[in-house]
Amino acid sequence: MPPLPPGITSATPLAASDAGHLLKVATESLLGHFAEICEGAVIVDRQARIVWMNDRYPKRLGVTDPAAAIGKPVESILPNSLMREVVDTGRPIMLDIMDFGEESFVVVRLPLRDKAGTVIGGIGLMLLDDAMGLAPLVSRFNRLKVDYADSQRRLAEARRAKYTLSSIVGASEACVAVKQQARRAARTRAPVLIQGETGTGKELLAHAIHNASQRADKAFVAVNIAAIPETLLESEFFGTAPGAFTGADRKGRDGKFKLADGGTLFLDEIGDMSTALQAKLLRVLQEGEFEALGSNRLVPVDVRIVAATSRDLQAEIEAGRFRTDLYYRLNVVTLSMPPLRERLADLPLLCEHMLEAQCHKLGLPLREISPEALQGLCRHHWPGNIRELQNVLERALMMSDSETLALADIDAVLPAARTAAAAVASPGLGLAEAIAEAERTAIRKALDACGGNKARAAAELGISRTSLYEKIALLGLG
Ligand SMILES: Nc1ncnc2c1ncn2[C@@H]1O[C@H](COP(=O)(O)OP(=O)(O)OP(=O)(O)O)[C@@H](O)[C@H]1O
Ligand SMILES: [Mg+2]
Repeated sequence: MPPLPPGITSATPLAASDAGHLLKVATESLLGHFAEICEGAVIVDRQARIVWMNDRYPKRLGVTDPAAAIGKPVESILPNSLMREVVDTGRPIMLDIMDFGEESFVVVRLPLRDKAGTVIGGIGLMLLDDAMGLAPLVSRFNRLKVDYADSQRRLAEARRAKYTLSSIVGASEACVAVKQQARRAARTRAPVLIQGETGTGKELLAHAIHNASQRADKAFVAVNIAAIPETLLESEFFGTAPGAFTGADRKGRDGKFKLADGGTLFLDEIGDMSTALQAKLLRVLQEGEFEALGSNRLVPVDVRIVAATSRDLQAEIEAGRFRTDLYYRLNVVTLSMPPLRERLADLPLLCEHMLEAQCHKLGLPLREISPEALQGLCRHHWPGNIRELQNVLERALMMSDSETLALADIDAVLPAARTAAAAVASPGLGLAEAIAEAERTAIRKALDACGGNKARAAAELGISRTSLYEKIALLGLG
């Protein structure tokens, strides 16, 4: 007498004949139930070739002639089928979810054995979810699938480049030229090196190149080399293999090269990279493949490199801090972002653009800037370039209530160091004297503003207290 199926119990033991009857009823109704709840059924032989399919199955799959499926490898008709695994391992896969186009189905896969217990084939059943009461499971699965797709999309969006060439405001010759070069560079997959002082818009240009390239719909991944501790950079770049480390990273982690595969990898502040890592980077660029930390498997990658630096790489090479070979690898196309003082013609356009953006951001009514204030801006040296201009305008907006920013509003927030450029503009002075004169004016102004407090004046001027004392002596301000 076989044991009762699981779940069938009785408080008082049944007579043997009762139990046999119950078992027969149970088996029959189970089989009947299965027939009813099956949306599709397939039987395969030991080689996972289709031996039989019920006729509901092919309709779902768009198979017009079910007979033609017979004898074919199961995957050629059901691409996601795991029947081969079942006949190979002899292990059932009791409840699984299989995707068919837009729909998901619950499937059961069982090995079929002969009397000796040898696997001779397998049966796969696709269950009708409403008949099985599987709706909660399937709908939960579908919800998770949507959530997953959603977060994948958001991640991909975060890895999209935000700016295009049109975000680079400017119509000066220097600006138009660099945009033109960028457009040309975007057509190739050659590495690009962007040079330029701080705040000139190097990162903006990197985004724009990616967006103008054929890789625009792929990832744009940025790494700021100066912002990541040296010890972490290698794993940040190449990722770690599962089990390479204990703890949080046990599962392994993709590096930036992997994340940027097919897209663009932006290496910001490349001049800050150690020579040891430069050697590793060079190898990846040359071979087109890399190894995750703790793995010895080479993975091919297709990544376009855009690098940026505000350092003078030639000088870094001479000082032995930057590898010549890497420099030539990266330097196939060089773009130089002009400093703001060399594109003053763009000031009106930049101001208009930034004032609009900032008023919008701060919820203020739209403000303008007076021609005199613009002239004031033209006299500044702009060591911090466009980022500095942004700060100056933002601070002027906060300080003033008038509809139009006047020269006084700008003067109130412009750093005291009113530029060599201004002094150079006054005729009849040699360059050295012009600079000295400009420094004298700046220092006097700062000292006045700070009530003679030298520490505060030095801070205001952005120099150390020692150099302020030196300058006071040197310029005869004592
Ligand atoms: N031509 C431009 N038009 C409008 N905004 C600009 C322009 N160039 C730069 N900016 C803005 O100026 C700021 C600085 O730009 P970005 O970060 O690209 O400069 P950077 O050269 O990378 O600076 P750093 O060397 O300090 O990293 C950003 O807020 C950017 O949006
Ligand atoms: Mg930058």
